[in-house]
Amino acid sequence: MSETGPMSEMILCVNDLQVEFPVRDGIITAVRGVDLMVAPGEIIGLVGESGSGKSVFAKALMRILPEPGRICGGSVTFRGENIATMSGENLRALRGDRIAMIFQDPMATLNPVMRIDAQMIEAIRAHHRVSKSKARARCLEALQKVGIPSPEERLRAYPHQLSGGMRQRVAIATALLNKPDLILADEATTALDVTIQAQILYEARKLCEETNTALVWVSHDLAVVSGIADRIAVMYAGRIVEDGPTADVISNPKHPYTRGLIQSVPEECDHGKALHQIPGLMPTPANLPKGCAFAPRCEHADNICLLQDPLVSFDGRQSYRCHNPLNAAQVQEMSS
Ligand SMILES: Nc1ncnc2c1ncn2[C@@H]1O[C@H](COP(=O)(O)OP(=O)(O)O)[C@@H](O)[C@H]1O
Ligand SMILES: [Mg+2]
Repeated sequence: MSETGPMSEMILCVNDLQVEFPVRDGIITAVRGVDLMVAPGEIIGLVGESGSGKSVFAKALMRILPEPGRICGGSVTFRGENIATMSGENLRALRGDRIAMIFQDPMATLNPVMRIDAQMIEAIRAHHRVSKSKARARCLEALQKVGIPSPEERLRAYPHQLSGGMRQRVAIATALLNKPDLILADEATTALDVTIQAQILYEARKLCEETNTALVWVSHDLAVVSGIADRIAVMYAGRIVEDGPTADVISNPKHPYTRGLIQSVPEECDHGKALHQIPGLMPTPANLPKGCAFAPRCEHADNICLLQDPLVSFDGRQSYRCHNPLNAAQVQEMSS
């Protein structure tokens, strides 16, 4: 591949990534060949129902899979290096510096017995040789950037003295401290109320634009993801089944699963109307149907869908895994 090709311009290239959990009665393959490209500064929304493999995928990218999870195939190339095979030492140097992660529970990142200033300063000094006062100034700036009022005071607080929304802002500010190239956020606003969620999404987007930081925003909520992302990747049963620019995916979904997710988003004018639900349940990795994993829930499924797993197609804008992609008329029906 040429050095100047589009691949080398990507900050993250995930190629055919597979993750498995060896369990007592067999092997559970939770991520089944995921490809994902992220350009510098790009915001990707990774969406799918609960159990689709989003968190396992995000954790695999950072190599923080819970035992006995392991990457069993594919590669994760970050700034030209394969994270999947990187030494522990090199990996630790990346984490919290070039790549940062934000979780649903900010206490996964914050230390309950340390003051905010102490842990934020530590997060900088673990990677960079700067004086405590310089580090402190950077912490203050980071807290201001995520919209924390009276940041001086908050720096002196312990995590439990802050509200949930404030704690998550501190976790985001901590993630931003070393100006990472990539942030992975997994359900980072799911526990927060809608207003605070909207503010955080707005701030996160602005910060990424300012610093050219790429962001992979993982959420089960398509409304959240479409509010922040340049591109949407839809995950189903351990695979990405559709991937494309947000506007295209929302207005012209190719995969019936994507359309189902769109129809399940409540609209403000729909008060009182019954919400659309995709019939059936997502299969567990241990019980995958033959053929397309979505076929048993899909109104467009035919024989081929039940027999053959669809390969990836690309129409110039979106890529999708479907034997019977939706046409314009079927997409029209969606809004009626
Ligand atoms: N620690 C684990 N051990 C075994 N299987 C797991 C473990 N964690 C996740 N899985 C499997 O991976 C699937 C996807 O989980 P997850 O990535 O958490 O879904 P999501 O984040 O999309 O809700 C789960 O349905 C489960 O079968
Ligand atoms: Mg999850």
